[in-house]
This record gives sequence, structure tokens and C-alpha cells, in this order.
Amino acid sequence: MTVVPNDHRLQPINLFEYEKLAKEHLSQMTLDYYSSGAWDEITLRDNCAAFERIKLRPRVLVDVSDVYDGLRLRNLTTSILGQPLQLPLLIAPMAFQCLAHPDGEIATALAAASAGVGMVLSTMATKSIEEVASASDKFPDSLRWFQLYIHKDRGLTRALVEKAYKAGYKALCLTVDAPVLGQRERDRRNEFTLPPHLHLANLATISGLDISHEKGESGLFTYFAQQLNPAVTWDDLEWLQSLSPLPLVIKGILRGDDAIRAVEYGAKAIVVSNHGGRQLDGAIASIDALPEIVAAVDGKVEILLDGGIRRGTDILKALALGAKAVLIGRPVLWGLAVAGQIGVSHVISLLQDELNLGMALSGCAKLQDIDASLLILPRL
Ligand code: FNR
Ligand code: LAC
Repeated sequence: MTVVPNDHRLQPINLFEYEKLAKEHLSQMTLDYYSSGAWDEITLRDNCAAFERIKLRPRVLVDVSDVYDGLRLRNLTTSILGQPLQLPLLIAPMAFQCLAHPDGEIATALAAASAGVGMVLSTMATKSIEEVASASDKFPDSLRWFQLYIHKDRGLTRALVEKAYKAGYKALCLTVDAPVLGQRERDRRNEFTLPPHLHLANLATISGLDISHEKGESGLFTYFAQQLNPAVTWDDLEWLQSLSPLPLVIKGILRGDDAIRAVEYGAKAIVVSNHGGRQLDGAIASIDALPEIVAAVDGKVEILLDGGIRRGTDILKALALGAKAVLIGRPVLWGLAVAGQIGVSHVISLLQDELNLGMALSGCAKLQDIDASLLILPRL
């Protein structure tokens, strides 16, 4: 098993170096699946570029010794849906993590829980709802949510929700930007499929469903077309909320009017997201969509954001625009590929260190000091 290299000169010092190193540990099919965006990958690139377009206006001569003393990091605790977090950070739901490392979602959950950040388990996980829950047993206060894809088979969808509730997940995170899967062309060329030893851990056991090999197509694309329900609408949210007492978080909103509807239909939090550029190519970068949504929701529910977070200052910018926390996707897979749980922990701590340092250099001694006056936004 690989570990983060002992020689400090070889250790990644930022998330980009993790990405570079991870490439040496993954098959071409997995690397393509993890890194791809849809079609021309315009939105994938723009998620990061949009952060670069936002400029910071630091405050000076503020006592920032509490947020960064050059040694240890403090003072970034917050909460989401009433649950404490050590850092305004969650790990985004991502399918098939055992492609990166044999411990897959369990390693990710343990790294998240031990850092006091959140973790969202995907419906398409390669470790089951129960396996991940019991591995996280020693962290009873950890923030674990379950991400839901609504299948055509309502009984199956109901079973997933009931399992998540029973296993102690604290919210249901419904992904609404994937009525069908976006077309990632490298996956299509590769005829993406899972190796024989990996399965849809949550679905294979209840229903025998799995990803199969398809000629000329990604097996995942075909799975979505065959199994997921593209007819889901706002009116189905009532049914969904009747299945369990879990609060509903809606992931994949990019417009203010949709955000207002989500609140009206009972969502307790919203994730502003374009699925890491993997669904509708050409969609607005998630950080560019955030201000309209924050204004529309007007404090009624908590707003999170994902897509393109690669530096602590990206988190700072998202918080300044009104997000309560952010989620990170691909960098976690890079950490997992390089060194399993240790790699994911390291990715989290690199981001934490950068956020603390970025705050100190911007004149923010605590999270509450981060506000929109720190930013200059580009004209869209
Ligand atoms: C995802 N994402 C995702 N989202 C979701 O709701 N359910 C899922 O199963 C998956 N699976 C998945 C697999 C892989 C390989 C990636 C890269 C992404 C999207 C994910 O939750 C998140 O929205 C983006 O990854 C955030 O963008 P960054 O941080 O990767 O730029
Ligand atoms: C993806 C799906 C599984 O982005 O959400 O690959």
C-alpha cells in the first residue's frame, strides 16, 4: 500500500500536487472517470477560473493571532443544520471510491470524521450505507449525510432512504441536476465499467442492480438512462419527505427562482452546484451562481456550494458571498488514490491551513469577519 512519501520534499504541499501524484496511482479508465467533465468541459474549467476572477480586498492591522499563529490553526468551528463542524467543509458525494483505494468510502468517512468535517455518501458508493456507518461508529457526532438518486423503482428508492435513516445519516441530500447523466466523452470512449470485484454496494444487495459493460457507451450513462427516473418534479418532494424524518438538502441548484422553490417545498439547505461540470456543459460556474441564490433565499435556509474549490482562498470567497460551508469533490479522490485515509486527511488539513492563512492575510480573525466587502466581483 502506498503512503504519503516520508521524504518531505516528495510530499504534496497543495491539492494540485495531489492531483499530479494521483495520476500515477490510477488506471486510465478511473482517472478519466474521476477527472472528466461533460462534453467540452467548459463548465469544469470555469468552476476554477471563476474563483480566479474574484479579487480580494484585504483588511490590515487587525489582530489575527487567533486564526493563525504560524503553528496551529484554530477558530473555524461552525454548524450545518444544527450539527457542529470543525471547519466549514464537507466531502461531496462521489461514486465508486473503491476505484481509488480498496478502503474507498470508509477511508473517506474516517478522514472526514476525524477532522470534524462532513461527509456525504453517494447512492452509487462502492461501500454500503451500513459499512460506512459502522466504520464511523467511534465518531458519533460526525456529520454524515446520504445522497439520493431517485430510481424509477419507488420501492428501491424508499428502501435506500429507510436504510440511511436507520444507519444514522443526518440528512438526505437529493441531487437534482442529473435526471439523466451528462455525456462525459472519455467515459464513452473507454466504455466505462466497474472491475468485477466492485459493485454498487447499496443497490446490488437490494435489487441486484450493477454497472454493466456497454458497447460504445459508458456503463454508468446506460445505468442512469435505464434506472433513474427522469420524470421527477417538485411535487415528488412531498412523497420523499414522507419516507423519513430526515431533513432534505437539495443539491444542484443554479438559479434563484429554483432556490426559492426548494425552500417552499421544504428543503432545509441548498447546495449550489453544477455537479463539478459533469452534467450540463456551458452551465454557469457555481461560484458565479451563488450571489443570486443567496439574495433569493434571504437567510431562510443554509446555503452550501461545491465546484472548483482547490485553495483555502476559494473557501474564503464562497463564505464571503454567503455560503455557510463548501464541499470538495475531486481533490478527495486524489488524496484517496495516493494514500487512502491518510491522503484524504492530508488534503483536508492542507485546505484548512490555507483557509487559516488566507483569513489571517485578509484581516479576518474569525469566520464571522468574512463578508462581501472582502471581494471585488467581475462583471458576468
Ligand atoms: C461526482 N459528483 C456526484 N454528485 C452526486 O450528487 N452524486 C454522485 O454520486 C456523484 N458522483 C461523482 C463522482 C465523481 C468522480 C465526481 C468527480 C463527482 C459531483 C460531486 O458531488 C460534486 O458536485 C463535484 O465533484 C464538486 O466539484 P469538484 O470539487 O470536484 O470540482
Ligand atoms: C457522476 C455521478 C455518479 O457524476 O453523479 O459520475
